Amino acid sequence: EKDKGLIRDSWESLGKNKVPHGIVMFTRLFELDPALLTLFNYSTNCGDAPECLSSPEFLEHVTKVMLVIDAAVSHLDDLHTLEDFLLNLGRKHQAVGVKTQSFTVVGESLLYMLQSSLGPAYTTPLRQAWLNMYSIVVSAMTRGWAK
Ligand code: HEM
Repeated sequence: EKDKGLIRDSWESLGKNKVPHGIVMFTRLFELDPALLTLFNYSTNCGDAPECLSSPEFLEHVTKVMLVIDAAVSHLDDLHTLEDFLLNLGRKHQAVGVKTQSFTVVGESLLYMLQSSLGPAYTTPLRQAWLNMYSIVVSAMTRGWAK
């Protein structure tokens, strides 16, 4: 319950500015693993990560990711209701060539975004609370890789 409060309070302000925060997260992601850029088969001929992240297709994906996080935060009390959705989302990511190991880097990028936007409010318990929720989301998505 304490975890949920930490997550909800921190998302309160971040969730109002999804795109900018999502851009921080994905900028970090592409810094940590530039090869992930190549999985986005958009017809945009963007050269580097900053350029890609300013294209409408990438911004749309950033928005989609933030909406999934938003849904998870809204459903902290009944995350299991998102299971089917997340399993299917996992399948779609398997289909575009994402490896489940990449979700570790995505998690690091999420924490990086939280840290840079929350500043001193980014505490060890808060970090752990987010990691717990993120691992539930990732394990549901990962089931999409199973045959
Ligand atoms: C769709 C790549 C992480 C949420 C897609 C698509 C690609 C992609 C190529 C299809 C094109 C599109 O709809 O834009 C990636 C890569 C990731 C990643 C490379 C990092 C390893 C995530 C995460 C989430 C997410 C962490 C949310 C937790 C979505 C959603 C869609 C999507 C909601 C739309 C699915 C649909 O059409 O039903 N992703 N993605 N993605 N992604 Fe990701």
